[in-house]
Amino acid sequence: MLLRSLPLLLSCLHALSGFAKGDSCVVRAKADAGDDTPALIDAFKRCGQDGTVSLPDETYHINQVMNTTTLKNCRIDLKGRLLVDINYWLEHSMPIYYQNQSTVWFLGGENITFNGFGTGTFDGNGQVWYDFAKGRSNYPRRPMALTIFEAKNSRFSGLRFVQSQMWTMTIMYSSNILLDNIYVNSSASNGARISNTDGADTLYADNITFRNWTIANGDDGISVKANSTNIVIENSTFHGGAVALGSIGQYAGSFETIENVTLRNIDYLGGFYAAYVKTWTGKSKGIPPNGGGGGLGSITNVTLHRAAGVFFITQCTHWSSGGEPGNCDTSRFSVHNITMTDVHGNVTNPAVATLKCSPAAPCHDIKFDNINVAINGTDKKADQYICTAVERPIGWACTETRAVEQPWVRMLLVSSPRINRNQPAMSHCIVFLQPAKLVASLRLLILESRSCISEHRPQLATAPPVVVLNP
Ligand SMILES: *[C@@H]1O[C@H](CO)[C@@H](O)[C@H](O)[C@H]1NC(C)=O
Ligand SMILES: *[C@@H]1O[C@H](CO)[C@@H](O)[C@H](O)[C@H]1NC(C)=O
Ligand SMILES: *[C@@H]1O[C@H](CO)[C@@H](O)[C@H](O)[C@H]1NC(C)=O
Ligand SMILES: *[C@@H]1O[C@H](CO)[C@@H](O)[C@H](O)[C@H]1NC(C)=O
Ligand SMILES: *[C@@H]1O[C@H](CO)[C@@H](O)[C@H](O)[C@H]1NC(C)=O
Ligand SMILES: *[C@@H]1O[C@H](CO)[C@@H](O)[C@H](O)[C@H]1NC(C)=O
Ligand SMILES: *[C@@H]1O[C@H](CO)[C@@H](O)[C@H](O)[C@H]1NC(C)=O
Ligand SMILES: *[C@@H]1O[C@H](CO)[C@@H](O)[C@H](O)[C@H]1NC(C)=O
Ligand SMILES: *[C@@H]1O[C@H](CO)[C@@H](O)[C@H](O)[C@H]1NC(C)=O
Ligand SMILES: *[C@@H]1O[C@H](CO)[C@@H](O)[C@H](O)[C@H]1NC(C)=O
Ligand SMILES: *[C@@H]1O[C@H](CO)[C@@H](O)[C@H](O)[C@H]1NC(C)=O
Ligand SMILES: *[C@@H]1O[C@H](CO)[C@@H](O)[C@H](O)[C@H]1NC(C)=O
Repeated sequence: MLLRSLPLLLSCLHALSGFAKGDSCVVRAKADAGDDTPALIDAFKRCGQDGTVSLPDETYHINQVMNTTTLKNCRIDLKGRLLVDINYWLEHSMPIYYQNQSTVWFLGGENITFNGFGTGTFDGNGQVWYDFAKGRSNYPRRPMALTIFEAKNSRFSGLRFVQSQMWTMTIMYSSNILLDNIYVNSSASNGARISNTDGADTLYADNITFRNWTIANGDDGISVKANSTNIVIENSTFHGGAVALGSIGQYAGSFETIENVTLRNIDYLGGFYAAYVKTWTGKSKGIPPNGGGGGLGSITNVTLHRAAGVFFITQCTHWSSGGEPGNCDTSRFSVHNITMTDVHGNVTNPAVATLKCSPAAPCHDIKFDNINVAINGTDKKADQYICTAVERPIGWACTETRAVEQPWVRMLLVSSPRINRNQPAMSHCIVFLQPAKLVASLRLLILESRSCISEHRPQLATAPPVVVLNP
């Protein structure tokens, strides 16, 4: 049996000083480093309505799931530590019923103020999970630390999330949430692949603002998913990850939307794109359908304003360790009305945008304005726009029209410590190989991986042979 430590730190530096009108609960960590979950759950029961739950600066061991979704007018000031037995979590983590994801903690209710004072930290001790999952994407029941669930009119501020064991958090069935001054950093100490450590995901969420985030991780920085509306991401810095619109359209028969997303004042350091869209293919394959999607819906009214970096669309998302043919021309998911203005910065290749839309539902009304992106190390402007199935471009023209996206087959980057040691930030890289190359020798795989690493830093503009990310 594996016994591992998985710290979850939530912090409080503040005295309680009569803040709340209701009760104040102060939870002290058990001296013998035992399970603090029962005491925490009890505190939320007693002080979760019109009260304050405070965890002084100690280490808390959270060895069981927590489900505190009916808080009201509650202030949380926390610092703690999550100690975890992987076997426990693989059996008990709570499903969120989307993409096989699960969670340690459902936190929800109304008017929650969650303060970390800049030091309160969720520490997922992800290394043990990165080692355990060995690069396998979305390992079933590998839980995210926090799911903000059925919350409204709430604020999460000054928190740190380090070494997330999975997606860092999901904001789900929630509205009117501000998350500001948040720091996220997940990296593998030994260069192992650390995919799936998204900074945050939104699902069925409305009016969510991410402000002043700093994210360094091995996957999407923030990923806006099914039925996310009125989302703002601003004044933030991404190291490596990007803002993903999707993945979306995985479930045949579902209609999902992403509407009115504003990204502004964002720095991307060493990432691939400023933002990118990923919809699944139009063909449902596998259970859950990781070989292709078939879902319908639209992504519309997205604005990216004042950012460094470039833009990318794919409608060919499928994920299957054995590899499935592309069906890249089949998605009927509609991507339209996207604007990028005042984009600047340096990229490593000449494309401002690579838009590989599905001929079954061409993208349309995509506008670029005041784009001033230089090819790094030169005074040449990046000025190429590579298109597949894009209609009615506004303010730009395709410089290269490509036929349907190649039926790339997604392969995990095989473990390659040599490469990873040198380029830990890229260790999550995923390689696309054309079917013909599937017979390729290991040598070729490594070669492809290398080209992925050397050619696509810091900001990948054009597409194959490599694109980041799992769904
Ligand atoms: C969490 O608590 C809510 C409200 O009490 C309940 O409806 C829900 O079923 C619980 N979820 C889990 C996974 O136990
Ligand atoms: C929100 O909760 C805080 C306690 O955390 C309380 O002081 C405040 O009055 C509540 N606001 C509303 C509108 O209920
Ligand atoms: C999803 O989770 C179930 C069990 O929870 C597992 O049987 C299945 O293989 C998982 N699917 C994938 C694609 O990981
Ligand atoms: C959106 O959420 C914010 C809190 O982050 C709130 O102040 C604002 O009133 C909400 N807007 C609407 C239209 O509900
Ligand atoms: C942004 O958040 C950081 C903590 O991550 C904090 O130190 C800084 O003061 C915040 N900046 C603003 C303008 O609030
Ligand atoms: C888009 O979202 C922003 C931020 O939540 C909001 O202020 C604005 O009113 C929304 N626009 C529309 C058309 O709903
Ligand atoms: C975001 O950054 C811009 C530019 O630095 C600044 O003008 C604006 O006040 C900031 N917004 C917030 C809400 O802090
Ligand atoms: C998602 O939004 C669409 C369009 O508004 C709606 O038809 C669908 O029921 C929503 N799905 C869920 C699960 O809420
Ligand atoms: C897109 O934005 C326009 C103008 O703000 C608004 O009229 C329209 O309803 C929006 N569409 C969606 C689907 O949000
Ligand atoms: C597209 O979205 C922008 C806001 O991003 C809005 O101003 C415009 O009216 C929208 N156009 C349509 C046709 O919805
Ligand atoms: C981009 O240029 C800067 C100097 O202008 C240099 O330090 C950096 O290494 C270059 N990055 C790449 C990926 O070439
Ligand atoms: C971008 O490239 C230009 C030209 O090589 C260089 O002067 C500048 O320092 C680079 N900027 C950044 C942020 O790397």
